Amino acid sequence: MRDLLRPIVVAPMAGGPSTADLVIAAGQAGALGFLAAGYKTPEAVEAEVRSVRGACSGYGVNLFVPLPPPPDVAAVERYREALRPEAERYGVDLPPVRLTDDDHFASKVEIAVEYRVPLVSFTFGVPPVEAVRALRAAGSAVLITVTSGEEARRALAVEPDGLIAQGGEAGGHSATFSPAAYRGDRGVRAVLAEVLTVTDLPVIAAGGAGARGAVPGLLAAGAAAVQCGTAFVLADEAGTRPAQRAAMLSGEPAETVVTRAFTGQPARALRNRFVAAYSSLAPVGYPAIHHLTAPIRAAAARLGDASALNLWAGVGHAGAHAAPVATLVDRLQE
Ligand SMILES: Cc1cc2nc3c(=O)[nH]c(=O)nc-3n(C[C@H](O)[C@H](O)[C@H](O)COP(=O)(O)O)c2cc1C
Repeated sequence: MRDLLRPIVVAPMAGGPSTADLVIAAGQAGALGFLAAGYKTPEAVEAEVRSVRGACSGYGVNLFVPLPPPPDVAAVERYREALRPEAERYGVDLPPVRLTDDDHFASKVEIAVEYRVPLVSFTFGVPPVEAVRALRAAGSAVLITVTSGEEARRALAVEPDGLIAQGGEAGGHSATFSPAAYRGDRGVRAVLAEVLTVTDLPVIAAGGAGARGAVPGLLAAGAAAVQCGTAFVLADEAGTRPAQRAAMLSGEPAETVVTRAFTGQPARALRNRFVAAYSSLAPVGYPAIHHLTAPIRAAAARLGDASALNLWAGVGHAGAHAAPVATLVDRLQE
């Protein structure tokens, strides 16, 4: 497993930024890229695996672990009512509440097994032990993302090959197993140190490592590699939506917060109008809330309106640059 790692991991970023081109360019630049399987059809994931596997030796695929139905269904219904003005604003219908959706988990695991994907990482919880065993038997190394030492202990029970220690600075969804309590206020240094006390397996650090010197610092603190997302959102090869690129380049909105407003799972995003209006109302419930807000986000994206888009970004968003991946990888290692 350690031989597959590179000091810099270009994070999987579902929802557009991660493209096959981004992963290939990461590999060519001496980093390790991950395809983001989340939200995609199995066919789309397979097509991406096929284009990447011949072009770079090391790469990974990231999967969302299916979550149980929301704990409070009435709260999801109430949130649907609260979103009505937003639906009217964008001229869309709110879909009926859909409580579960496993994101084609089993088919995506099968694809990873069939193509012997070198590394498979998981977020949102502990994957079923059968999936871990099938992947490892096929020769894939399995990584599970955690946000605390306690989550690390739970993840180790299914015998992965390594862990990803995600700090609260991280952009995008948190991997937290406790979405009701998660605030994103524990930094990557603290999470990494805690995880290293419970395992000797390789631990990849993730969160806020875009600043100069941060990657070498986390490697010196014991990380086997450092996974960066926000630093690559503006990469030339990324498929980031134009409205998000424009917002990040303009510096507006200027701050990030952890919010469940878009998907029901805590995620760090730029604090735009939607975040300000709905964060206090949004219950726990991925993917129910993700499906509820999808038409609003799609309409906003069509209009190039960043005020209702999920602008996933970490605390280091102001340091993100538009440049080829190779340039960004070099800069992170300085
Ligand atoms: C736009 C965006 C999308 C993300 N999507 C995923 C994802 O699909 N799966 C995942 O495991 N992590 C995802 N993440 C989190 C990253 O894996 C990583 O933890 C994070 O980017 C590290 O912190 P940083 O953003 O400060 O570099 C995403 C992050 C961003 C910024």
